Amino acid sequence: MLIINTETKLFGLLGYPLSQSLSPIMQNAAFKERKLNKIYIPVEVLPQNLESVVKGISKMNFEGFNVTKPYKIDIMKYLDEMDEYAKIIGAVNTVTVKDGKLKGYNTDGTGFLKSFEKETGSKIEGKTVFILGSGGAARAICMTLALNNAKKIYICNRTFKKAVLLSKDINKQMHDMNRQMHDINRQIKDISIAIPMEYNEMHNALNDSDVLINTTSVGMYPDVGTSPLDINLLKSNLIVCDIVYNPIKTKLLKDAGLKGCRTISGIYMFVYQGAEAFEIWTGIKAPTDKMLSIVENSL
Ligand code: ATR
Repeated sequence: MLIINTETKLFGLLGYPLSQSLSPIMQNAAFKERKLNKIYIPVEVLPQNLESVVKGISKMNFEGFNVTKPYKIDIMKYLDEMDEYAKIIGAVNTVTVKDGKLKGYNTDGTGFLKSFEKETGSKIEGKTVFILGSGGAARAICMTLALNNAKKIYICNRTFKKAVLLSKDINKQMHDMNRQMHDINRQIKDISIAIPMEYNEMHNALNDSDVLINTTSVGMYPDVGTSPLDINLLKSNLIVCDIVYNPIKTKLLKDAGLKGCRTISGIYMFVYQGAEAFEIWTGIKAPTDKMLSIVENSL
């Protein structure tokens, strides 16, 4: 039985609104499994209160928290330090609190990468990836794919100019990193790994891709009958990933299954991003199987 006392350390999820999140159930199950005197609570924060809530957390018995929509970018101005990887992505989903100091991390992209590698048994290196969406999740995933040597990343979004902006940011980041690694006198080749795509041009790009990742919310409960793209655009050699995890098998994944594609549910990314946050906070290996089964049972 959980006994809450003055030694209990607090963790939380900051966002608005929070009704859908399974992070509290998953993290509390992990703390219990590892017999840690820690609890994780949802903290719904209005935009005008973000700064004062974060300041308060830094003075309390919190050891860390997660950040979700719409604060993954805004939170950065209240942090004392940023992990290099979170800096590159430009967004934070995990924060540690130590001696009143806040440090930001990002586990969204690595959570996706781990889910991909574990579920397919292969690496993203050398693969051509087609991304649907250009929001925060797409940004973390695209940067991670680029840093892990994906060959090409097509970015397709309903609002095309956001796909253009995200592609520019990724290419600039890769170019800057490449420049830092090379002798200033050497010729730097132009790396344009990310390519923005119009919706009506997706056919050819999909044919050229090994992996499709839906980062939009299309297909999420309660709109379980909708898919972000036409089933006829899917070919059997495409690995189809959805970051939506409710339902576990979205319409997109069902369609992909019918076409003979290998599919990866968003539930794995959700669990791995949470497992990495748990490990950053505690320094202890996360009970990933336990976390996965509790999330599966809650859906
Ligand atoms: P997240 O942090 O989960 O990535 P977000 O930053 O709000 O969320 O981004 C949501 C993404 O899903 C956006 O790319 C959005 O497209 P727009 O830029 O055009 O808004 C995309 N999206 C959301 N609903 C969509 C829909 N019904 N059809 C197509 N794309 C949609």
